[in-house]
Amino acid sequence: MAIERTLSIVKPDGVQNGHIGHVLSVFEGNGLTIRAAKLVRLTQAQAEGFYAEHKGRGFFGELVEFMTSGPVLLVCLEGENAIAKNRELMGATDPAQAAPGTLRKLYAESKGRNTVHGSDGEASAARELRYFFSEAFEMV
Ligand code: CMP
Repeated sequence: MAIERTLSIVKPDGVQNGHIGHVLSVFEGNGLTIRAAKLVRLTQAQAEGFYAEHKGRGFFGELVEFMTSGPVLLVCLEGENAIAKNRELMGATDPAQAAPGTLRKLYAESKGRNTVHGSDGEASAARELRYFFSEAFEMV
């Protein structure tokens, strides 16, 4: 199986509600290693750029507003099948559809306020990690 890297974001609701510790312990308890992490408050331009593929969709403004509403924790995870494993641990985007025991089932309030983000494939993982982390200075 491939060793992969992926981006996780603990979103403003997850940070504000005190779930950083549990989210990270779920990752570590499931074979994922934290290779980089930083707590930041995204600017409007950073959030718009990150979610550029969703520009033009009805929820885009709400998404950017929410993602800039408070600090987020940006995390680079590494491990076997890290991209799919992270998505499995998060659960479905809509918490109503998320499997029992997943992070979104536990903590998310709605499709928008859904506690965590995870890259959805190899190309997006590479792009998203590059967007937020400098390979040379921030990845260990
Ligand atoms: P995320 O994994 O961060 O990637 C895109 C985000 O858009 C997604 O999680 C949701 O939080 C958000 N999103 C998708 N659909 C909707 C929707 N219908 N209403 C509000 N937000 C949405």
